Amino acid sequence: MSADGTGLTRRMLLRSIGAAGGAGVMFESMRTLGLLAPPQALAAPDFREPRAGDLPSDARGATVVVLGAGIAGLTAAYELGKAGYRCVVLEAAERVGGRNWTVRAGTTDTDLDGNTQTARFTRDDDTYFNAGPGRIPQSHITVDYCHELGVRLEPLLSSNANAFLHRDGDDPHMHRTVKADHHGYVAELLSKAVDAGALDAELTADDKEALLTFLSGFGDIGEKADGFAYTGSSRRGYSVEPGAADQEGVVRGPTPSLSETLSSGLGRYLQLELGYDQAMTMLQPVGGMDAIVDALLAAARRGGARVVTGARATELRNTDGGVEVTYRSGGEKSVLRGDFCIATLPTHLMAELPTNLDPAIATALRTPEIWAAGKLGLEYDRRWWELDERIYGGITYTDLDLLSMWYPSHGFARDHGILVGYYNEGPMAEAYGALSPAERKRRALAEGAKIHGEKYRRGVRASFSVAWDRTPHLEGGWAMWSSYGPEYDLLNRPAGNVYFAGDWLSHQTAWQAGAMDSARYVVSALHERVAAR
Ligand code: ALA
Repeated sequence: MSADGTGLTRRMLLRSIGAAGGAGVMFESMRTLGLLAPPQALAAPDFREPRAGDLPSDARGATVVVLGAGIAGLTAAYELGKAGYRCVVLEAAERVGGRNWTVRAGTTDTDLDGNTQTARFTRDDDTYFNAGPGRIPQSHITVDYCHELGVRLEPLLSSNANAFLHRDGDDPHMHRTVKADHHGYVAELLSKAVDAGALDAELTADDKEALLTFLSGFGDIGEKADGFAYTGSSRRGYSVEPGAADQEGVVRGPTPSLSETLSSGLGRYLQLELGYDQAMTMLQPVGGMDAIVDALLAAARRGGARVVTGARATELRNTDGGVEVTYRSGGEKSVLRGDFCIATLPTHLMAELPTNLDPAIATALRTPEIWAAGKLGLEYDRRWWELDERIYGGITYTDLDLLSMWYPSHGFARDHGILVGYYNEGPMAEAYGALSPAERKRRALAEGAKIHGEKYRRGVRASFSVAWDRTPHLEGGWAMWSSYGPEYDLLNRPAGNVYFAGDWLSHQTAWQAGAMDSARYVVSALHERVAAR
C-alpha cells in the first residue's frame, strides 16, 4: 500500500507511466515525485590517474567487482590498480576483449545460432583481420594508452585514391576519378558564377580574385578564356602510365559529363574522409587490434586485478555497505561481495540482469538503439588487389549490401593476405547475420564480383565471418543514443554502489576511446568518493 493512500505504490505508478508514456515522461514524473535530483550538468574533469597516496590508509584495498572484460572493464581495472584497489573482473565469454577481437589462424567461435567457425587462415604475423574495431583516429586516447602500454602502431589506410566507389549496375569508379570530376565541375560552375558577378553581393573584388585562384587549383580547370571548363585531369589517373622516352602517358577517360557525374550518386562517399574521426592518417596496432587487449590485461593483472573468464553475472545487488554479485562459472553458482561494482556489459544486456536497482535504471539502459555490424575476412592466395589493381590498403564503398570492403594496410607485397569482404552495419549486417557462415561467404563473393570481376570468386583460401548481433554476450554492434537525454545522465551517475561504463556512455559510441574515457570518468568518480570517506 502506498504512503499517500492512493492504493498505488510509487513504483507501480512509475511503471504505468513508463509503459504508457515512455522513459522521457517517466523521468519527468520521477522528478515531480522527488525521486530524481534535478538534472545537473555532467562534468568530465581532466583525467588524473588515481594514486594510493590520495586515499586514507583504511580505504586502501577497496574491492571493485567489474562486470565485463572489454575495453571499458579492462581500462577501469588497470586504472584502479594504480591506486591499489582490488579488482575482480568477471567476463562471461571465454576470451577477454569484448568487441576488440582479432581473428587469426585457429580462432574458433560459436554464435547464438550454433554456427561454429574455426579460422583456417595461414599462420603468420600478417594474416589476421580485426573483426571489431579496425581503425584508430590520431586524436583518440586509445593512442595514449598504446604509448603508455608499449603497443606499437602503424598506419591504417582508411582513404585510398585507388580504391573504388561503386553503384549497383554500374562499373566501379576509382575514388580519385570521382573526386577529380566532382572538384572539377564544382570549380567550373562556381568560377563561372563568380566571374559573371552572380556572387557580387557576397564577395569583394579581392575575395573574387582569391576565390578564382583557389578554384583553379581545386578543380584543375581551364582558364577564363576557356570558360573555366573542366575537361578531365591527370588527377583521374592514367590508363597508360607516363614513362621513359616518348611515353607521355594517357589520362584515364572518358571524362563523364556534369550530369553523369552528379547523377552517379558517388559524390556522397567523398565526405567520409572529411569526418573528424575517419580522416587520414589513421592507426592500427602492429599484428592486430587485440594487442591493446593483451597489454591492458597484462597491466591490469600487474596492478593486482583478477580476471575470470567464463563467469556470467546472474544477479547484482546494492547492499548496505557495498555490492553483491552472483555469477555462474562452469555450472557453479558463486557470490562475490565488494565495495563497488563497475558494470560494463552492453547496455541492453545489462538491462536484462536481475538487480535491486531502481527500475528507472533498466528503462534507461534500454533507451539506446542497438545497431548490428558484421565483417567477413577472406584470405586469398594471391594479393590481386595489389598486383592487378594497385590498391594498397583503403576502403571501397558500394551501395550493395556489402557496404564496404577493406584492403589490408599491412603485409603489403606478401603473396597472400586477408581482405575484409564486407564491413556492413544496421539492416545489411542483420541480413548477413541471419545466414550461415557458408551462405554469407557465397553471397559476399557474388556481390563482390560485381565490383572486382570473376577473380573475386577465385583463390579464396579460407574465410571467417562475424555477426555481432549474433555473438553471445555482446548481441549487437554498438548502441546509439538518438539524444543524450535524462536516461544518459542517469546512467552516468552511480546507482548506489554501482557505476556504469562503456563506449555507450560517451560521446564516442562505437569507439574504443569512448569505452576508455567512460571507464576513466567512473574511476575518477569512484576514487574521489573513496578518498572523501
Ligand atoms: N567506429 C566504428 C568505425 O570506425 C564504427 O567503423
